[in-house]
Amino acid sequence: MTLAERTQSLSLSGTHVDGVAIPQIGLGTWPMVGQECTDAVVQALSIGYRHVDTAENYRNEDAVGEALRRTEVPRDQIFLTTKFNREHHGPLAAVRAAVEQRLSLLGVNEIDLMLIHWPNPDQGKYVETAGALAELVQAGLIRAWGVSNFTAEHLADLRKAGLQAPINQIQVDPLASQPRLRAVNAEAGTLTAAYSPVGRDVDLNEYEALTAPAARLGVTAHQVALRWHVQSGRVAVPKSANAGRQEANLDVFGFELTDEDMTGIDALDTGAGPRLDPNDFGH
Ligand SMILES: NC(=O)c1ccc[n+]([C@@H]2O[C@H](COP(=O)([O-])OP(=O)(O)OC[C@H]3O[C@@H](n4cnc5c(N)ncnc54)[C@H](OP(=O)(O)O)[C@@H]3O)[C@@H](O)[C@H]2O)c1
Repeated sequence: MTLAERTQSLSLSGTHVDGVAIPQIGLGTWPMVGQECTDAVVQALSIGYRHVDTAENYRNEDAVGEALRRTEVPRDQIFLTTKFNREHHGPLAAVRAAVEQRLSLLGVNEIDLMLIHWPNPDQGKYVETAGALAELVQAGLIRAWGVSNFTAEHLADLRKAGLQAPINQIQVDPLASQPRLRAVNAEAGTLTAAYSPVGRDVDLNEYEALTAPAARLGVTAHQVALRWHVQSGRVAVPKSANAGRQEANLDVFGFELTDEDMTGIDALDTGAGPRLDPNDFGH
């Protein structure tokens, strides 16, 4: 069985979205740009990744687009997530222009998942923007829409307008796992996608709840963390430029954590929440 065949997908559904399959492990691409980014994406696709996570703000959509042209993996087998910035929030015409800019930079005809990167509540336009994105699914420019860094309050505002977000990409790592927001997502039928899923700068090897299952299963602490995401029913987008680490991060479908392992990792949450507060920060 190849890694690609072992990769599992989840189903996205919400307003105007019904049953779009999203691979659970995607390649994070921030902060890679240019040749480094293109090479890392081509390498990841050859290893078996079928989901790539980029954004306007990463300034690497052109490099991801170059990788899509260079890889031997057909476009229709690759799930592409991207995000746009605050200046595009607003009515349908503004949001459509943002999506068309992404299509052009990526060199594709359709985006699989288009996210509002931050709610930017100071602008007060995220509900209108989400409504426009849902319409663009119907127009065929994007297969699914979603949000990122939305809090319970922002999601409730969407619901009041009759909008169910298919997915909310938020920071979830073993030390900052946002259990309350994940529960809100689940109640709303919104899938959680984890960014910084291996903790970015955290040394996962310091935590026995990760290293003990890793030793027992013959895997690494990072693989245990990613298996915890997968087994919890989340999407996760770990970033690595290194072939060995990319391969390890995808190779999390051939072992299982016990309920006790899962509870132990859940208990690592410090309650500190995410690094950035979506009510104060956004681009
Ligand atoms: N929606 C948002 O607002 C938002 C915010 C932040 C990030 N993101 C997305 O989420 C992605 C991932 O988040 P992130 O980059 O913050 O953090 P991350 O994926 O948790 O951590 C990346 C760091 O961990 C290292 N690493 C990865 N796999 C490893 C392994 N198996 N063993 C040891 N070290 C490993 C990487 O180094 P090497 O490259 O050297 O392996 C890199 O330094 C980003 O690339 C981006 O696509 C989204």
